[in-house]
Amino acid sequence: MQYEAKTFDIPELDGISKETIDSHIGLYQGYVKHVNLIHATIAEMEKTPEENSYALAEVQRRLGFEFGGMKNHEAYFSQFEGGAKPLPEGNLKNLIEAQFGSLENFITHFSTIAKTRGVGWSMCYFDKTVNRLVCTWVDEQHLGHLADLDIVLGLDMWEHSYMRDYLPADKSKYIEAFFKNLNWEVVANRV
Ligand SMILES: [Fe+2]
Repeated sequence: MQYEAKTFDIPELDGISKETIDSHIGLYQGYVKHVNLIHATIAEMEKTPEENSYALAEVQRRLGFEFGGMKNHEAYFSQFEGGAKPLPEGNLKNLIEAQFGSLENFITHFSTIAKTRGVGWSMCYFDKTVNRLVCTWVDEQHLGHLADLDIVLGLDMWEHSYMRDYLPADKSKYIEAFFKNLNWEVVANRV
């Protein structure tokens, strides 16, 4: 069973160029390709495990990075589909207001995480066991992902996400553009 790259129906965005999105989707497709390649390579190497023990371990170690790159980007691009829409009434709105007091406070919290130094993601998850949103920083594509939780909101903070449109020192403008174009209905449906 192979993974296939998804397609995304993303309208023209305000503050994130089409060129950025197009090249970014190309990078996403690379992650999907590499997930499949790693699985195929492992299967091949396991035919002669004694000869390949070191290489096998190194290839296995790469899976989390490539797999995270695939799934994180699927969460990211789908958030733009359908165009900007406000946060609807419902579970997510109730959770945000109970935990943060207001949507504005939540956005400030999430945006502060997004300004963490380095390449990675600002992520928000829902932990249904305690009915709580949990936001954190994920280094690269995989380091720091919270176990057993689904992504509710994901913001790619790798420089490839915004460097055509903003200088690195202006990445807060990219974060603002992200929220300006966000379809909150897609996000709300994940909780
Ligand atoms: Fe990315």
